[in-house]
Amino acid sequence: MSGHGTPIPMTSQACGPLTGEAHVPGDKSISHRSLILGAMAVGETRITGLLAGEDVLDTAKAMRAFGAEVTDHGGGEWSVQGVGVGGFAEPDNVIDCGNSGTGVRLIMGAMATTGITATFTGDASLNKRPMARVTDPIALFGAQSVGREGGRLPMTIVGAANPVPVRYVVPMPSAQVKSAVLLAGLNAPGQTVVIEKEATRDHTERMLAGFGATITTEATDEGRVITLTGQPELKPQTIVVPRDPSSAAFPVCAAVITPGSDVLVPNIGLNPTRAGLFATLREMGADLVYENEREEGGEPVADLRARFSPDLKGIEVDPARAASMIDEYPVLSVVAAFAKGNTVMKGVKELRVKESDRIEAMASGLRANGVDVDEGEDWWTVIGLGHGNVPGGATCASHLDHRIAMSFMILGMATQNPVSVDDGGPIATSFPIFEPLMDALGAKITRTSA
Ligand code: S3P
Repeated sequence: MSGHGTPIPMTSQACGPLTGEAHVPGDKSISHRSLILGAMAVGETRITGLLAGEDVLDTAKAMRAFGAEVTDHGGGEWSVQGVGVGGFAEPDNVIDCGNSGTGVRLIMGAMATTGITATFTGDASLNKRPMARVTDPIALFGAQSVGREGGRLPMTIVGAANPVPVRYVVPMPSAQVKSAVLLAGLNAPGQTVVIEKEATRDHTERMLAGFGATITTEATDEGRVITLTGQPELKPQTIVVPRDPSSAAFPVCAAVITPGSDVLVPNIGLNPTRAGLFATLREMGADLVYENEREEGGEPVADLRARFSPDLKGIEVDPARAASMIDEYPVLSVVAAFAKGNTVMKGVKELRVKESDRIEAMASGLRANGVDVDEGEDWWTVIGLGHGNVPGGATCASHLDHRIAMSFMILGMATQNPVSVDDGGPIATSFPIFEPLMDALGAKITRTSA
């Protein structure tokens, strides 16, 4: 949905130990892809554990607008009656992707090689974000686009009626762009080749193979070369969506910084393209253990046990790990405030074009709460104060960004004074049960009046 109603100010204050189990919701990336690929298959895809966050609900609505039958059976059980590759109908109305860059970019790719026209919009955050990164490659297939200045939404895409396959080197580390090109390649004849210099999350590749497409990935000197054979008949699947490591990051980091805590976060996917934060926390000295390590649906999974970690130290985060933890830098910067020494994060310019400019949003909020931060275009450094020494006491702007709002709520759990955000409403885009889940662990998050 475009816009988020009345702002919901929230305050988090120091709490006793966090204890218990945190059952975080389904993975956002896999939830979007389940609905979109389900809509492009022939027949009924069944999905269990779908994330019922606003971003994913907007994608469900969009798939209905393109002609798929999408049914919510309750309790995370969904079904999608797909229309087949190339089978999208022209939507009657504007497609509103709300806050979701993943939703809009993947859907633009998926419709770009069908002979229909669709207009996309979003909320104030999404309508500021760059879309040329998708309209450039889909133009190579033959799609046309008209948007606002700087390639911003609202934007109309005229799909290519006679698409040609492409070979595309993705210019920035972006799973959304890679996925948009692969989804466009589905309805082009012949082979579409996508090359990424740095590995980004590979859910689209794994799921396309699961739906029966012919897709290969080869590691070469040029990077990962992904080759997709176009115009397959995708076979409907039964999908169990794993729990989201990006949501798990919040209770894990909360436990690490809150004295006495011991929290178990069960069933978290540790796909190497997503698990960079956990490796980084362990390097900083966090007491984070992978219990019950196993494989589920071809993905490594573990229960994460996080305990209060009094001796955190600042580190230089390996830039090669950036793509695998890109959504976790905001909450990592919170942990870094409680470490001794500097935490240096380099090669992260993509953070500037997320739901907000996440370097700017976190740096100004941390500074307001007494933590020094240095920053440049593609790096930032948090100067850690160590446990017990972070003042807090300020209200931070969440900039319509769920991860910024949640990160500051985690900060307030271990600061000397409470920390507030002007609007926690966006948390519902990815983690609608954040407040009750954190509450049950022992956190003190309250909704405050505006
Ligand atoms: C996502 C990819 C990432 C990530 C986003 C989800 C995805 O964006 O930040 O939250 O599901 O493909 P980029 O691919 O643009 O880095």
